[in-house]
Amino acid sequence: MFPCDFAWGAATAAYQIEGGWQADGKGPSIWDTFCHEGGRVWGEQTGDVSCNSYELWEKDLACIRRLGLTHYRLSLSWARLLPDGTTEHVNQKGVQYYNKVIDDLLACDVSPMVTLYHFDLPQALQNHGGWKVPAIASIFDSYACFCFQTFGDRVKLWITINEPYVCAKLGHEDGIHAPGLKEPGTTAYLVGHNMLRAHAMAWHSYDSLYRPTQGGAVSLAINSDWLEPLHPDSADDIAASHRCFAFTLGWFAWPLFVTGDYPETMRAAIDAQSRKLGYNCESRLPTFSKHEPPVLGTADFFALNYYTSRKVKARLECRQGMSMKNDRDAEEVLDPEWSICGVSWLAVVPCGLRRLLKYIKDTFHDPVVYITESGFSQVGPLVMEDAQRADFYKDTIQEVEKAIGEDGVNVRGYFAWSLLDNFEWADGFSSRFGLFHVDFADTGKKRTIYRSGLEYAKTKVYDNSGQSKCRGHQTDGHPPRVPPFAVIIPVMTA
Ligand code: GAL
Repeated sequence: MFPCDFAWGAATAAYQIEGGWQADGKGPSIWDTFCHEGGRVWGEQTGDVSCNSYELWEKDLACIRRLGLTHYRLSLSWARLLPDGTTEHVNQKGVQYYNKVIDDLLACDVSPMVTLYHFDLPQALQNHGGWKVPAIASIFDSYACFCFQTFGDRVKLWITINEPYVCAKLGHEDGIHAPGLKEPGTTAYLVGHNMLRAHAMAWHSYDSLYRPTQGGAVSLAINSDWLEPLHPDSADDIAASHRCFAFTLGWFAWPLFVTGDYPETMRAAIDAQSRKLGYNCESRLPTFSKHEPPVLGTADFFALNYYTSRKVKARLECRQGMSMKNDRDAEEVLDPEWSICGVSWLAVVPCGLRRLLKYIKDTFHDPVVYITESGFSQVGPLVMEDAQRADFYKDTIQEVEKAIGEDGVNVRGYFAWSLLDNFEWADGFSSRFGLFHVDFADTGKKRTIYRSGLEYAKTKVYDNSGQSKCRGHQTDGHPPRVPPFAVIIPVMTA
């Protein structure tokens, strides 16, 4: 049973859907540069046009309405609003675009959840060192304040940064995301640190300057797999799975929810590896300054992106080079019983979400949780009758329901990734996560609902008379839990 005011949503991100990469005064972002460099993305594809949501927003709105969503999570393109990343130059066309999106959503009784940063740093800021440079935090804070000031009268749910783990690791350690840096064992920690500082500054700005009149809620979207020891009786595997948690979920959630600092396990592992390598200077994991706004307590809710699970085992041999993987010193493996959907990393494990939610409740003081992403990809030939994805959503939603009803986790919303097939980063358009298919060969970028979209749309919320949908815009982002006189009737029948 879901609460009556449960948020039913779908999510997208600006670079993945908007196109219009240089329309109406938008500045370039690091993803524009990364794609145009060539050799980075599957089939040399780019997000130059993608779903063309910049011109075809009304088509997205029709999809949102077709699904009957109560919420829609979108991200703002920083470089569309502020072409050089600073508030010195505001692109009014960008402001107009997002004003229209937000106003149209509200007119259709759909509440926006807005992400300020979803992987697409203005290139002008990257030219000055991007997320590696400490000054980025206050530049982000100014951008965030600009957005709160401009859109915060209508937006009540904010995500500052999406998946700092992915930005730091894939963008600066592995080099497979923009800006494509391969600087293992150092830069990712610095980037993660500056992202946490930036988030904390923006949260404090919101808290003191905007919350009193706007009354919304602000968080950071943290991605995590569910991780468990390969051999539950092995002390080494248990320790290895704790380390893996510390290096993903803990890296960002510990500072926000527990101590204001990184997990001790993480720092100890990094410093032990540094000593092995004969590197005896200060820790490669930075330290938070007492002279800056504290990070602890700067999440008004827990925003979780969950896709998959892993089993963890201790590593037999110890490797020498400097890298996050060597610092973490654990192997992640798949359970052969798990099915793989499309992309190789995505093992389908709905029950992992329930376990992760319980872990979050127990570890992070029972926070309000929004599941800000959860999804299933299709690769290869197009299949509109995507029964497997429909099953995935049905099973996953059942697990969320159990987490709420049986484990008492305070989950307030679920956002499917994604509303549309879109530009899936280094996989280009080869990996389709949409509830709607997009025909990228068509100039009108025709959207067609998948079977899974039809089934997701049937997930209805009834009030106790069994009829009307329970809606309503949240004033403070955290509506009180409604007693269980409202029931959700999942009619997903694939
Ligand atoms: C997340 C990311 C999304 C989307 C999704 C599917 O990490 O936030 O933008 O790409 O993965 O891979």
